[in-house]
Amino acid sequence: MKVIRARDYNQMCSFAAHFVAREVRNRPEMVLGLATGRTMQGFYREVVERHRAGAVSFARVRTFNLDEYVNLDSNHPASFHSFMRWNFVEQVDLPPENANIPDGNSDRLLDASAKYEADIRAAGGIDLQVLGIGRNGHIAFNEPGSSLTSRTRVKRLSPETILANTPDFGDPESVPRYVITMGIGTVMEARFVLLLASGSSKSRAVEQMIEGPLTAQCPASILQMHPHAFVVVDEAAATRLNQTYETVEEILADPYEEYFWEGA
Ligand code: GLP
Repeated sequence: MKVIRARDYNQMCSFAAHFVAREVRNRPEMVLGLATGRTMQGFYREVVERHRAGAVSFARVRTFNLDEYVNLDSNHPASFHSFMRWNFVEQVDLPPENANIPDGNSDRLLDASAKYEADIRAAGGIDLQVLGIGRNGHIAFNEPGSSLTSRTRVKRLSPETILANTPDFGDPESVPRYVITMGIGTVMEARFVLLLASGSSKSRAVEQMIEGPLTAQCPASILQMHPHAFVVVDEAAATRLNQTYETVEEILADPYEEYFWEGA
């Protein structure tokens, strides 16, 4: 796991967008795994800015999102379909039919889960999966205790995640209790993983992910086993880290080839 420290949220988002735009330029037909959440908003702003400046095209990219709520209208403002439309798909030249999000409204969720896995395989697998992290160390919606080899499936949200997502729904009772999410095994099959973590609320999860034991109690700790996992944390999220890690400035001073896509 390569840990990269950003001085603040904006530098984290700018570095991540710069790197993703660069890799999409190098691999225009990339299969890109995407995430949602407040952390990602600044990242997408930076990506869209680079697209509008003509620095990157998504015309031949296919995307797969991590997760979606179950039985939530895809036009609901808190759905991840809405989030992706507003923050990314409608802002760049990605063909909407290339934007894949798990179908939480299927009346056959088991089939929908299996189809999602099949669609990812049919696309050739995910080249680069962008991730956030939950306060309890979850990735996608794989809550603590999730099998570290799990696949796309329906999961029940933990009380902590329901609380964390309440601002999007107004009150806890309105937060859907079930989601359809890529599994940890699914995420681990991505050739590269880029996880972004910002803010003091993530500092404990970041410490456990990077410096803690490999355990299902912190699903993100599985990234210690990924051959090409890159974690960008801002100073607020890094406060509990004990080791020293390279900064964005130090990484930018080095040739990328040494760190990214090696042996992809
Ligand atoms: C949800 C999403 C995750 C995301 C997490 C953190 O649980 N399923 O993919 O990483 O929220 O979101 P935020 O960035 O808003 O803290």
